[in-house]
Amino acid sequence: MKTKLLAASAVVAMLAAGGFAAHAAAKAPAKPAAHAAPTAAEAKAFVARAEEALAKESEYASRAQWVQNTYITDDTNWLTAKANAEATDLSVRYAKEAARFNGVKVDAVTRRKLELLKGGLVMPAPGRPGASQELADIQARLDTAYSTGKVTIDGKTMGLDDLDDALRTERDPAKIKAMWDGWHAVAKPMKGDYAKLTALANQGSRELGYPDTGALWRSWYDMPPDDFGRETDRLWAQVEPFYKNLHCYVRARLNDKYGDAVQPRKGPIRADLLGNMWAQEWGNIYDIVAPKAGAGLNYDLTKQLVDHGYDPVKMVKTGEGFYTSLGFSPLPDTFWKRSQITRPRDREVVCHASAWDIDNKQDLRIKMCTRVNADDFFTVHHELGHNFYQRAYADQPFLFKNGANDGFHEAIGDFVGMNALTPTYLKQIGLIDTVPGAEADIPLLLKRALDKVAFLPWGLLVDKWRWEVFSGRVTPEQYNKAWWDLRLKYQGVTPPDERPADAFDPGAKFHVADSTPYMRYFLADIYQYQFYRAACRQAGWNGPLNRCSVYGDKEVGQRFQAMLELGQSKPWPEALKTFTGEDRLDASAITEYYKALNDWLTQQNKGEACGW
Ligand code: ASP
Ligand code: SER
Ligand code: ZN
Repeated sequence: MKTKLLAASAVVAMLAAGGFAAHAAAKAPAKPAAHAAPTAAEAKAFVARAEEALAKESEYASRAQWVQNTYITDDTNWLTAKANAEATDLSVRYAKEAARFNGVKVDAVTRRKLELLKGGLVMPAPGRPGASQELADIQARLDTAYSTGKVTIDGKTMGLDDLDDALRTERDPAKIKAMWDGWHAVAKPMKGDYAKLTALANQGSRELGYPDTGALWRSWYDMPPDDFGRETDRLWAQVEPFYKNLHCYVRARLNDKYGDAVQPRKGPIRADLLGNMWAQEWGNIYDIVAPKAGAGLNYDLTKQLVDHGYDPVKMVKTGEGFYTSLGFSPLPDTFWKRSQITRPRDREVVCHASAWDIDNKQDLRIKMCTRVNADDFFTVHHELGHNFYQRAYADQPFLFKNGANDGFHEAIGDFVGMNALTPTYLKQIGLIDTVPGAEADIPLLLKRALDKVAFLPWGLLVDKWRWEVFSGRVTPEQYNKAWWDLRLKYQGVTPPDERPADAFDPGAKFHVADSTPYMRYFLADIYQYQFYRAACRQAGWNGPLNRCSVYGDKEVGQRFQAMLELGQSKPWPEALKTFTGEDRLDASAITEYYKALNDWLTQQNKGEACGW
């Protein structure tokens, strides 16, 4: 994940995303003015006051959160929940106050800032006394349950980071299932708190003029919320046939390996067999699905990293090196002193990777429990993308210090990571000795697609589920069934066994337990291919697109930086245009990239009953 920007609770948080003027304006409960209508000058003065106060509060809350995230105790939870409650109160107050200026004619910058103030909260609390503290306490309990969850397998106690690591390579279906069941049991007790949290955030959202919290989240994209919902469906329709092709091929290989009793040739795929706890990225089972007959890849990045003596710090340094090659300045010394790069031995921490901008100036950090493997090599580039973005927009006014939208924030580092995973680049930095020939293009594309294309339906469905929960269409009794209905519909996966009646499987995913919105990752999975296609064109690349690396290209770097510097000062289509010349989300960038693979999969799938 990223940054505390827009993450649950924090103030830093709240300032996400462009509210949609007409929508909020129509519904926000402006106080009836007891005096004359407010003026444009008052609006400007109000915005200046709010920016100053929020910047201070955000730094305070970030520091509290940092301490809690890197040292979970009852006390740090207490302190952080208090800071978060105060931050929520402050931003709710400003959101309501901003609505007083709905009808006032103001300059464009002030208008944008007012809209950001109105719609920037992630989990707003109702205004009644005590509600924000209640919300923050519940959130702290959920976060702690998730981050300190343990599973005992064969007498060995494992945290989620251990389970992730084991699932990459474990191929015994019974052992895989034990780990999967164990982790999902951790989420069971979260259900009651989750329902309470939902009700509170919904009350808060209604007070701000939104029908529910899902509508608030959908209002962040410089278009009416309903249009945004339709936009996600449009994008899914562009990529769905390709996903189904990949699903069909992978299912057949799993059936070849495990047999009908474990993975039938037809119907959905067993969700625990894909090398990842949530079946969200499948690259770890490349060995099972690799093309036969010598067309495999001739390197395994995890093995190369280990063989070349990489340690977690060297992985982060290498990531930084890609950004500096594009012309970005090196990370500040404080980054290296203050980041948490590996899991501390003697205390509980939040291991889920994140990137931080503590003072909204230059105190950049990452927090990871890095291991030396290909997944974390990519994640390092991902997290650093947040940090370089944060630094690029550091000169913007406080309310514009954010991504063009939250999908942009997630896409920056992924775009760099895509370059960093090419054999072209791996050879340049000495991680592999020879660049595999053209016969490796299908294997390379397949490996990428297992992570990036498999991710798309998952990236879409997590918030489809939350939108339904927030709207009340799915009630707490239906949480788990609705979750699996969506997983079946979009991903075509099924749990290894019938789920217990009291299961709460959505809570087994960080962003659900932590109230971090998720559609951003679906968007990022598309934006990053738009960035990549544009960057490679600018660089004059004329080999196969999947081999393109813009490492060392300062001109591309400069254009990229120009987009990042805008922060959230402009509607996202303008930011996108700055770098790519395009002004809408377009999944053709992803289908073009994988065209050869899709054709190959179609061949391979002849005779299979694809779909589920
Ligand atoms: N970048 C990932 C995410 O945004 C972090 C991770 O997978 O650990 O959630
Ligand atoms: N990092 C995000 C997650 O862990 C998206 O890949 O879900
Ligand atoms: Zn992220």
